[in-house]
Amino acid sequence: MDLSAADHRIPLSDGNSIPIIGLGTYSDPRLTPKGICKTSVKAAIDVGYRHIDGAYVYQNEHEVGEAIREKIAEGKVRREDIFYCGKLWCTALDPENVRPCLERTLKILQLDYIDLYIIELPMAFQPGDKIYPRDENGKWLYHKTNLCATWEVECHPYFIQTKLLKFCQQHDIVIVAYSPLGTSRDPTWVNLSSPPLLTDPLLKVLGEKYNKTAAQVALRFNVQRGVVVIPKSFNPERIKDNFQIFDFSLTEEEMKSIETLNKNVRFVEMSMWSDHPEYPFHEEY
Ligand code: A2P
Repeated sequence: MDLSAADHRIPLSDGNSIPIIGLGTYSDPRLTPKGICKTSVKAAIDVGYRHIDGAYVYQNEHEVGEAIREKIAEGKVRREDIFYCGKLWCTALDPENVRPCLERTLKILQLDYIDLYIIELPMAFQPGDKIYPRDENGKWLYHKTNLCATWEVECHPYFIQTKLLKFCQQHDIVIVAYSPLGTSRDPTWVNLSSPPLLTDPLLKVLGEKYNKTAAQVALRFNVQRGVVVIPKSFNPERIKDNFQIFDFSLTEEEMKSIETLNKNVRFVEMSMWSDHPEYPFHEEY
């Protein structure tokens, strides 16, 4: 794989391609100043990112859309240079709700199409306007749906479902790694039993060898295995740093030594929903 800052798309089986690094845009809306998402997406496009990972539930999709549209208007990029991934939220998993939700996302973004539309979490919540529906006692309101039926609608503008299903069935899937830096460690949804990834001594030592940070080593590790990464940052320096991963490579031995760090413990545990009948993380995969 010959990846560079200027050309780092990897092929998908249907002839489309995906940039191997994208900017993650989730930040708790209650704690995030307005406008910072937009500034960050623009900064990311300026330093070379061409893949933006967003979602309706992040409540900042309008800022992502504004940033992309402004960069197109400035002539910095064309729409086709940008890969935007949007997500269907848990309250809209009933098949008849998928298309309206995608259309709502397009309206919020003010874009004609998005490049990928995925199921945010495979657990249905009660349909309706409340993003996080609970009853009067604070109990989560779950919902039953058939996930296969959710997939059987047009939910990705470039892929048709039969191909996508076949693609998944054959396990020949390009993986997008969320939280490739170990998350923001928000205790409301993150399992903090493992230490912060970026303080790992091996990642630090390898970083020193290549004059890189532990974060850059962690991202390079995934990219070198062909795994797409979507590190979130709203900090201009870190947005830039996280993209500087195409000018060094890890040796086979170093890749293997990083593999030994595996703890088999996921950070994104979402334990508040662990009693959902479809909670996906009881099973190992
Ligand atoms: P910030 O937005 O202030 O940069 P993940 O993508 O694994 O969920 O990680 C995102 C978290 O890591 C955010 O809290 C983000 O904060 C922080 N982060 C992003 N890039 C770096 C970096 N290069 N070094 C340290 N922390 C980072």
